[in-house]
Amino acid sequence: MSLLIKNAKIQEKNNFFIKNVFCKKGKIASITNPDNTKFNADKTIDAKGKLLLPGGIDCHVHFREPGMEKKGNWKSESRAAAAGGITSVIDMPNTIPSTTTVQTLKEKRKTAEKNSLINFGFHFGAEKRKLAEINKVKNIASIKVFMGSSTGNLLVEEEKILEEIFRTGKQKNILIVLHAEEEKIIKKNSKKAREKNWNNVKYHNKIRSEKAESEAIKKALKIQKKVGNRIHFLHVSTKKGMQEIIKAKKRTKQVSCEVCPHHLFLNEKDLNRLGNFGKMNPPLRTKKDNEFLMNALKKGLIDFIATDHAPHTKKEKQKNYFDAPSGVTGIETVYSLLLNEAAKGKIKLSKVIEVLCEKPAEVYGIKNKGKIKEGFDADLVLVDLNKSFTVKNSDIHSKCKWTPFNGRKLKGKIEATIINGNIVYNKGKINSKIKGKEVKFEKKK
Ligand code: DOR
Ligand code: ZN
Repeated sequence: MSLLIKNAKIQEKNNFFIKNVFCKKGKIASITNPDNTKFNADKTIDAKGKLLLPGGIDCHVHFREPGMEKKGNWKSESRAAAAGGITSVIDMPNTIPSTTTVQTLKEKRKTAEKNSLINFGFHFGAEKRKLAEINKVKNIASIKVFMGSSTGNLLVEEEKILEEIFRTGKQKNILIVLHAEEEKIIKKNSKKAREKNWNNVKYHNKIRSEKAESEAIKKALKIQKKVGNRIHFLHVSTKKGMQEIIKAKKRTKQVSCEVCPHHLFLNEKDLNRLGNFGKMNPPLRTKKDNEFLMNALKKGLIDFIATDHAPHTKKEKQKNYFDAPSGVTGIETVYSLLLNEAAKGKIKLSKVIEVLCEKPAEVYGIKNKGKIKEGFDADLVLVDLNKSFTVKNSDIHSKCKWTPFNGRKLKGKIEATIINGNIVYNKGKINSKIKGKEVKFEKKK
């Protein structure tokens, strides 16, 4: 099957031009001027001057399968991704069982291959007595470490073991990615919260405090400095934590970080409305943190955006604060949230492409993705930047059918999503027959 997308506005060297994009065998075969009639494709889309962007790459998702299929599975969550213009994801290891052994990775791979509509890769979890397993796995994105406990039972807080993991990363040239929240601080504050019966989500930011984040970041940076390996901070949420990373970035190129859409576009004030639907780890912070992170993103100090898409059912979220699980959906709204910023002139469109497509591919070494370029994979999204819409829970494809951005008006809609040259999403319709492929990670030199 070949596909021709005619008259599409695409980015070339920081400018936008109308071009024809011809896709063959899953790749971008040729980019020509619009008057070129050389290519006859099996299928043609006339973009009529609309934007064609690289598909989004979300390097931090929890698709829940195996083990928590009530919350989501590869089929449902990859459909949500396709509807949101995300064409590749990297799944986190806190499933049941955790992805911390050769066998569990193998099983998850099989499930994704069979069910995912979009391209996929995997993070491998660090678990204390199973570290030797890392020597036996192939084509993983990273080793993920939970420095503070969250959903699931993965946790490594001891400096000695962290150092051992960092050394393995160095030796095998594997990126270490960190959920940086200090377990000791969280534990101490949680105990106090129980005693005082702070059973309300408005205390979440107090319990999993700013300090919990910045102390964990400092601890990781100290070990990184000693070992000299590559580390990546997941979901940085505070100004204080970010400042530590900015300092470290001046000393080394081996430190990178991401920010989540909810830490840019939501804060504590939204909790009145959201309740536990705004509970996630790390928590929503303040407007000041939102602004600091947005500025850091614009300045290129934050490498990219990832969603931490972590579905939980409405029923679970309706429990009291202590019992409700942490995590929010995000995969379906992230592209539009950023396009909305671009449509309103608050951020450059080239920045959106950088932080959602180019940089995730670069940091993780994902081969042939993140750019509209001849020879690259034909993972594309067609966007109507002039179209406004309201985000609604009822439109969400994610199995749990809710979003913390419910009710938000956005400008910039995903019209169609193309995976490996196949149209998987088109104006609200999903083609469930399309299957994604596992992405390839190239080792950094
Ligand atoms: O809010 C979160 N949810 N943070 C995490 O670290 C895990 C995630 C989940 O899997 O639910
Ligand atoms: Zn996560």
